[in-house]
Amino acid sequence: METARIDQTEVHFLDKGQGPAILFVHGFPLDHSMWHHQIDALSSNHRVITPDLPGFGLSPLVSGSHQIELTPLSLAGIAKTLGGLLDHLIIDKVSFCGLSMGGYVGWQFWKLFPDRLDSLIASNTRAAADNETVMRARRINAQNARAEGIPKLADDMIPRLFSKTNLENKKEEVDRIRKIISQTNPETVAQASLAMAERPDATPWLSEIRVPTLFIAGSEDIITPSAEMRANAEQVSGAKFAEIQGAGHMSPMEQPQEFNRILSEFLGTAC
Ligand code: MLT
Repeated sequence: METARIDQTEVHFLDKGQGPAILFVHGFPLDHSMWHHQIDALSSNHRVITPDLPGFGLSPLVSGSHQIELTPLSLAGIAKTLGGLLDHLIIDKVSFCGLSMGGYVGWQFWKLFPDRLDSLIASNTRAAADNETVMRARRINAQNARAEGIPKLADDMIPRLFSKTNLENKKEEVDRIRKIISQTNPETVAQASLAMAERPDATPWLSEIRVPTLFIAGSEDIITPSAEMRANAEQVSGAKFAEIQGAGHMSPMEQPQEFNRILSEFLGTAC
């Protein structure tokens, strides 16, 4: 892993391979290693950049000695940090591939830096903001994480992240995710939960997107259902939509070969 100091944040990231750059942005509350199949496969003909977002994985939530004064996480703030990371790496344009929360960051990245996108890949994510119920639950989760830590978070989340079959059959991937979630800083969980609750509705932006866009859904995804993703895709001019059979919310880990095939085919035509 390498490290870059971007404004007040220290970002740890992997930079592997050569060719057109692709930025993989992980979901909540995960880290760059959820993309390990994509790092291995895509880096043979792409420059693959996989950051740990601020507060996740090896990247500290804040750095320096004035932590209290720093602004809490926001999805637009994370997108800005990613723009800073590309500046640091002297990369002008990327294909941006974000999963779930990473996809929410992707809409913000498009809003801030539309000219820096070769293409946009929205994996297992949605454009809509949270409804009242989800928003309330996120606020409670944030309070609980601050008060009690996150001893139950992995157990609560994992059955919703993988399809039922993959929960049984892909134990190595499930264990990897369990470990990442358990090691996440509870304050990051709190701040990221509030950031997601406060995110704007990106649905009205979809018809304004002018970069090649691909939506990848999992047929068994109960967090960001395939039908909703298909409806989002229909609003982006010329967008492609693919549904991966048998995948839940973690489709890049659950069906990596199919995910990589769809992604490579798209990148071949989009870039
Ligand atoms: C994620 O995978 O990033 C989360 O499930 C996103 C969310 O909670 O909306």
